[in-house]
Amino acid sequence: MKEYLEKIPEELRGLINKVRSIAAQENLRGYLVGGFVRDLILGVKNLDLDIVVEGDGIKFAESLGQQLKAKVIAHKQFGTATLSLRPSLKIDFSGARSEYYPKPAHLPVVRPGSLREDLFRRDFTINAMAIDLSDGKLIDYFGGASDLRNKIIRVLHDLSFIDDPTRILRAVRFEQRYSLSIERQTLSLLKSALRNKMLEQVHPHRTRDELILILKEENVVKEIERLHKLSGLDFISAKLKINTRTRVFLKTIKKEIDWFNQRNPGRRPLDTWLVYLIGLFDPLGIREIKSICAKFGLRKGEEKRLLSYKQFKLSWVKELSAVTIKPSRIFALLEPLSYETILVLRSKHNNKRFKRNLADFLEIYNGLRIYVGGEDLHCLGILPGPGYKEIFTQVLNAKLNGKVKNKEEELELIRKLIKNRS
Ligand code: CTP
Repeated sequence: MKEYLEKIPEELRGLINKVRSIAAQENLRGYLVGGFVRDLILGVKNLDLDIVVEGDGIKFAESLGQQLKAKVIAHKQFGTATLSLRPSLKIDFSGARSEYYPKPAHLPVVRPGSLREDLFRRDFTINAMAIDLSDGKLIDYFGGASDLRNKIIRVLHDLSFIDDPTRILRAVRFEQRYSLSIERQTLSLLKSALRNKMLEQVHPHRTRDELILILKEENVVKEIERLHKLSGLDFISAKLKINTRTRVFLKTIKKEIDWFNQRNPGRRPLDTWLVYLIGLFDPLGIREIKSICAKFGLRKGEEKRLLSYKQFKLSWVKELSAVTIKPSRIFALLEPLSYETILVLRSKHNNKRFKRNLADFLEIYNGLRIYVGGEDLHCLGILPGPGYKEIFTQVLNAKLNGKVKNKEEELELIRKLIKNRS
């Protein structure tokens, strides 16, 4: 019965057939597992292939890598390997394993196991199905397919949230993403884990990673509301509250993200999760944000973007709301900020002129380049040094304010600047 293999998207079929033939040659049993199988059944596009091998997953990945001339990165200590074909297409391989948690909320001890054990160690029944690569049959020991049909999220055993409390966040994520509901017994186990403060016992970096995944979902507002209702957000900060204002704010942020993506298709992709996080941290003070960043091990660049929003002065907001502000001043105020920060500022302050000025910065001023370069200054007899930057800034400001339009006018301005200096 090849029914499931036939559902595989066209672009992956050749690749999966290759995987199947190598598995046959090497006499290895390989299985597609996890989110890929769940999404295949749901008819949702997913290009993240996860393959479990009963035997040596790394060896399998390396044979495939050789045949496909693709790069394989192996993690010997975990018995896993990743084969990258294109930036958007990768296959993760691992040997089937069983896990046991010597200490709640800590990483498990892993040893080789059967496929059944490998599936049993997983979070929910809907993520614990496999497709046998040899015959395309669905292997569903725990009723994942029927739970998917009935739109239910169910854990595989009673200790699931104790072993790995990040599954609380995962339950919310999948529930909201696929409009499922958390099954009654599972919900009661989840709530009991929350009452026992299990989420606070996980290493914060793991909680951070799951939180970021939530903030990357399509409907972040729904996800955060549900998370707040179930668990509160104390595991991030006890000072974090969600009220009607936050909800409206997050919804406005979503509109701003959509606006940006529509108007600026060629720009670097936004870190949308960070845009939401900046918004979520709006009620917090700088000290609190710094301490969350330290706890969660956020990167310096991420912390900088979170803080620059808080440090943006009200007097600057007022300046930027004025009709009379010069483009060069708009540039000077906004150039140090990231797109993420600017979008949250646009969400926060509903003044039309303010929003227009920020849009002009993103769409016009930020992309403006001057024609003159170091070579030109050299030809004008200016020796290289810090003075170059000063001149370039003045030329750019003149250009922003419409005072110079072409290279000749830029050079003319520089000549005047030199004359005034001497
Ligand atoms: N998994 C788990 N417990 C976790 C994390 C992952 O059991 N805390 C298992 C699940 O079987 C999951 C698989 O590992 O399906 C892959 O994890 P991940 O890539 O995080 O999730 P996906 O299910 O692929 O979800 P997504 O579609 O969001 O990538």
